[in-house]
Amino acid sequence: MNGSTEKKSFPVSQILDGSVTDFDLFLSVKGEAILYAAPGYVWTRDETTRLMAHGWNEFQVNSAQAALVRMYLQLARLPLIDREQAPAKRINSIQDLAAAFTECLYSGEVTEAAVCHGERISRAIVECILESPSSIKEISNLMEHDQYTFYHSARVAVFATAMSFTMGVTDEKHLQRIAMGGLFHDVGKKDVPLTVINKAGALDQAEWQLMRAHPSRGHDTLGAAGLSLETMEIVLHHHERMNGSGYPDGLQQSGIMTEVQIAAVADIYDALTSSRSYQKRRTRYEALDFMKHKLLGADIAPVAFRGLVAALT
Ligand SMILES: [Fe+2]
Ligand SMILES: [Fe+2]
Repeated sequence: MNGSTEKKSFPVSQILDGSVTDFDLFLSVKGEAILYAAPGYVWTRDETTRLMAHGWNEFQVNSAQAALVRMYLQLARLPLIDREQAPAKRINSIQDLAAAFTECLYSGEVTEAAVCHGERISRAIVECILESPSSIKEISNLMEHDQYTFYHSARVAVFATAMSFTMGVTDEKHLQRIAMGGLFHDVGKKDVPLTVINKAGALDQAEWQLMRAHPSRGHDTLGAAGLSLETMEIVLHHHERMNGSGYPDGLQQSGIMTEVQIAAVADIYDALTSSRSYQKRRTRYEALDFMKHKLLGADIAPVAFRGLVAALT
C-alpha cells in the first residue's frame, strides 16, 4: 500500500493495549500520509498514550483495507476481563466475551488481529483455571439454541483447558494452545448458514456435506495464521472417533492426539448439556451417564472421559 490511495480516519484511542494491527496506519503530516505502523505492528498502551499526549489523536487508514479495519474495531469494542473478579464470576464474563468474539469471527475474517484476540481470551481462561480449577462448575449452560453456536466454542475452550489441567498439564503455554483449539475448533462453520447449524430436522445431503466439511475448512482458514500444532490438530480432528468412524480422516485410537481426544470429549459434553432446536438439554449427570454407556471406548477416549469427570466433580 502506498500513501496516495483514498484514506479514512481512525482514532488512536481505539487501539487496544497488546493488540496487533493487520493494516497500514498513517499519520498525516502537513497533508502528507506518512506510514507509521505496517501490518503486524504490536501496540502498547504507553505508545498510544504518548501519541495522544503529543496531539496525535488520529491515524489515516487505506479505504482498500476497510474489512481488516472493521474487524479490528469490532474486536476492540469487546469488553475487557476484570482480573480482580472472583474466578467463579470471571469464568462467566470470559464465556460472554468468548461468545461475542466467536460472533465476530463468524461475521468477519480470521485476521491476525482476531488470532491475537483469541490468544488474549485463551490466556484469561488459563489464568482463571490455574487460580481456581473448580470455577468451571460455575459455567452456565442455560443457553438459547440461537446463541449456542457462539457460546459453544467458549465452553469447549474452558472445559478442555480444565480437563487438561486435571489430567496433569500444568504448563501455561501448553494449556493456552488447547484453549485456542477450543475457541477456534468450529471456525469452519462460519460459512454454514445458522439455519443449517440449528436445523431441527435431519440435514439433507448437501447440508450434511457442508457440515462435515467444517473441520477441514476451519483448518484451511487458519492455515496462514501460524497457530500451534495442538490448536490446528484440534480444529482439524475434533470429529474423529476412537473406532475410526469420525471425519475427516477416519483416524483411530492413538492416531488421535491426546489434546484432540480431550477437545472431542469437551465438544460432545457441551452439545449434550445445551438446549438445541432439535434436542432438550441433558443435566450434567444424564450427559455423563450417556457418554459412559453409549460413547465410551468406541467414540471417546476413556482417559479423556475420566478427565472430564474429574474436572466436573
Ligand atoms: Fe465441530
Ligand atoms: Fe463443536
